[in-house]
Amino acid sequence: MPMVNSKEMFKKAYEGGYAIGAFNVNNMEIIQGITEGAKMENAPLILQVSAGARKYAKHVYLMKMIEAAIADTDLPIVVHLDHGPDFETCKSCIDGGFTSVMIDGSHLPFEENIALTRKVVEYAHDRNVTVEAELGRLAGVEDDVKVSAEDSSYTRPEEVEEFATRTGCDSLAIAIGTSHGAFKFKGEPKLRFDILEEVSKRLPGFPIVLHGASSVIPSYVDMINQYGGNMPGAQGVPEEMLRKAASMAVCKINIDSDLRLAFTGEIRKHMAEHPDHFDPRQYLTDARNGIRQMVRHKIVNVLGCNGKA
Ligand code: G3H
Ligand code: 13P
Ligand code: ZN
Repeated sequence: MPMVNSKEMFKKAYEGGYAIGAFNVNNMEIIQGITEGAKMENAPLILQVSAGARKYAKHVYLMKMIEAAIADTDLPIVVHLDHGPDFETCKSCIDGGFTSVMIDGSHLPFEENIALTRKVVEYAHDRNVTVEAELGRLAGVEDDVKVSAEDSSYTRPEEVEEFATRTGCDSLAIAIGTSHGAFKFKGEPKLRFDILEEVSKRLPGFPIVLHGASSVIPSYVDMINQYGGNMPGAQGVPEEMLRKAASMAVCKINIDSDLRLAFTGEIRKHMAEHPDHFDPRQYLTDARNGIRQMVRHKIVNVLGCNGKA
């Protein structure tokens, strides 16, 4: 099974009323944990790489490890740039073998976002690479940039048809109240499903993407706090809300923070229970198993893409 772009995957997800998990990858254990979990559930997969991940691990290492994971699992896997900050980064990822990119012009004025997205789409489509764009702005931390709640903004449904038509993008990330990171809501979690509904009416059949979609699973927050961490007030998107979004037009659900919690929680637990251990393979085995378990849970209980590979 070769690396694929997101076209067919999203078409099937839209029609089937489920979503594909887009999991952020930064190292070998995370890649192995995700792909092994997806293999066990026979699920299609998006592995996404941020600019920060490329800086940390280097493009070529991530690419070669993902190629190894595809050879090992024989799953349909999209390799996607997460939050591409500019044309050059998107071009570098396309030239370097990614099958999908996100150009994140969500902080730009409407016309500038269209112009930048259009430029990426033209380069990408000539090379059979799909493009995700964003309208509206999520709060939270991404790539060291903190977007405050005041600077965030919901997607305006009246803009989406013009944006999709003029850019030619293949999927659209929208802001309906989720945010990046482990601290998502001050009070009661609330998502603007009315915006999602209105967007999907205006763009029938068009794949929508949900960022900031970790549930910040309480058992892992507890594990971190129990073993010396300090994350009071961590809160994520309730799983039933994600299931509802997946049954609607949302075809891609982005998950990073929950993986970070699982990885770190397992390492904290391992080190607390085995203070004499200093072989990284011992605690990284637990971390990788934590990722695998988390991904299986998401696939079966949240995304509904089990058995769809
Ligand atoms: O939305 C951001 C993702 O969680 C990636 O985070 O930029 O720290 O790698 P990062
Ligand atoms: P979380 O921080 O909720 O995992 O969101 C990740 C994300 O949107 C990556 O683009
Ligand atoms: Zn994101």
